[in-house]
Amino acid sequence: MRKKRWVAVLAAGMLLLSGCGRVVNQPVKSVKIGISVYDQYDTFVAQMMTAFNLYATKKQEMTGITINVEIYNAAGSQSTQNEQVESMIEEGCNVICVNLVDRTDPSTIIDTAEKNNVPVIFFNRELVEEDLKRWDKLYYVGAEAFESGIMEGELAAAAFAEETGFDRNRDGIFQYIVLEGEVGHQDSIVRTEYSVNTIIQQGVPVEKLGYAIANWNRAQAQTKMNQLLEEHGDRIELVLANNDDMALGAIDALKAKSIPRKDWPAVVGIDGTDVGLEAVRSGELIGTVYNDKEGQAAAMLELAYTLSTNGDMKTVDMLDGNTIRLPYIKVSARDAKEFTPPGAAGY
Ligand code: GAL
Repeated sequence: MRKKRWVAVLAAGMLLLSGCGRVVNQPVKSVKIGISVYDQYDTFVAQMMTAFNLYATKKQEMTGITINVEIYNAAGSQSTQNEQVESMIEEGCNVICVNLVDRTDPSTIIDTAEKNNVPVIFFNRELVEEDLKRWDKLYYVGAEAFESGIMEGELAAAAFAEETGFDRNRDGIFQYIVLEGEVGHQDSIVRTEYSVNTIIQQGVPVEKLGYAIANWNRAQAQTKMNQLLEEHGDRIELVLANNDDMALGAIDALKAKSIPRKDWPAVVGIDGTDVGLEAVRSGELIGTVYNDKEGQAAAMLELAYTLSTNGDMKTVDMLDGNTIRLPYIKVSARDAKEFTPPGAAGY
């Protein structure tokens, strides 16, 4: 069934994209960029793809070179993603961008790409360094996970220091729970560790009451927060969420239980998605950490464009010749009203 649908998608893609291909030593008239995302319903990834499409259209207008972008949803299956990459290469994509389903399992994709000499830009879900080094046409675009953890910890520590109301039992200790992203994802492991350590380093003693894995997902986070509220009730003074969607799921649970706002724990997220920023502005979240989706999308497009047009790679600013990381930005409730995302230079 899935295979049939896949063929139909490709047929449409071929009609749309016929005539594109790799051109060597001739002026490039069109390029074709294939993308596979781990889950098209992930809020942050979806918003990053919207930015990518927008910049691709603008780049096309600026350069006069046709830029075809095809985005496929791997829907949580690594084998589906492997097949998608193979098909995109067969269809003549000049470069493939991969948001790995399983960041520890890029081997099939790397082998296929190398065999066909098609560069791969991995993004958002970071593969291990040894894998990235396996071929010189592999790249990574993302952010430094620990930075976001530190900023989230700073936001929480500041809320504790400024707003004594969060220390409900007045024991001078911040009782917290963590809502974690996927097991094994660099942003779950690292954000949790660094946010907690930062709170401690800022001089705020902490006590962990519990944690739950909610896979970046708002509905799952609401369910898990419900359970944690059943278990720990108003002892929870802080909810550290690995992303905004899960922070908002925690808020949904507090609202559904009709807990008065003055009794809410401090809830903090990461991403600065549209809904996340709105919740910081309205004071429901004490803060978030902006994950620069525009910067990452633009960097990925520039790199993909340069690779596809045989451009000068020296014009692309990279660490170790293969990595681009965009900085995070801390957004407290106080900054949120004036905060505007940095946007992408040149677009
Ligand atoms: C993180 C982001 C999460 C989720 C995840 C998917 O960087 O903060 O919200 O999108 O990537 O890999």
